[in-house]
Amino acid sequence: MALVPYVENPLPALSKLQNSSAEFRFANHDLRLSQDWKKLGVAAVVWDAAVVLCMYLELGEVEVNGKSAIELGAGTGLVGIVAALLGAKMTITDREPALDFLSANVKANLPADSQSSAVVSELTWGEGLERYPAGGYDLVLGADIVYLEDTFEPLLQTLEHLCSDATVVLLSCKIRYERDTNFLSMLKQRFGVEEVYYEKQRDIHVYKAQKLPPRRDL
Ligand SMILES: C[S@@+](CC[C@H](N)C(=O)[O-])C[C@H]1O[C@@H](n2cnc3c(N)ncnc32)[C@H](O)[C@@H]1O
Repeated sequence: MALVPYVENPLPALSKLQNSSAEFRFANHDLRLSQDWKKLGVAAVVWDAAVVLCMYLELGEVEVNGKSAIELGAGTGLVGIVAALLGAKMTITDREPALDFLSANVKANLPADSQSSAVVSELTWGEGLERYPAGGYDLVLGADIVYLEDTFEPLLQTLEHLCSDATVVLLSCKIRYERDTNFLSMLKQRFGVEEVYYEKQRDIHVYKAQKLPPRRDL
């Protein structure tokens, strides 16, 4: 389902989504991500939240090098690619229809000696979680994945499965509707959450979350 309906002459702010590629420089690498908004919709364009999460990763406030990391709802894969270039061992995931496009972008943007740092894999939130190690990641990344209310509970379930108490979750979010803040309230019931970065021009918030210790009822 498209987040924003496709129209031939969109608002200028949305026109970049219709370009066939988007170019960036992160982690000392020039990156060119293919886009195909018309064919694959939201999963095949680079969203501002991905760009801002890459900016945050580059700041180095969260250790990425040598970490085992997973990206949820990766779309074109910009965040996972940049995290791999910064030294993470990445699992880059999305729903099945997005995977061929995602794999092609990952392959095209990682140098030969980094190809083995990233694996692309199907993960629909809340489904087949046993295929991923429980509490098995140092870092969980997600850019612009909080936008469909129906997915809030399965997304939370996925985060709970993937995270140990030590896992750091970084979510970059565009808060478009009031319901998006409902997800943050749900997250705060099970994770400690703090806003660690805000990019004003793009109006993107980056939240860092870590599992709360289990409650001990006396
Ligand atoms: C707005 S796009 C963001 C893509 C990319 N992270 C970015 O910021 O450029 C949302 C992504 O979440 C994925 N997604 C939506 N619902 C999902 C679900 N239930 N399970 C897994 N991924 C999902 C979509 O396929 C899409 O790639």
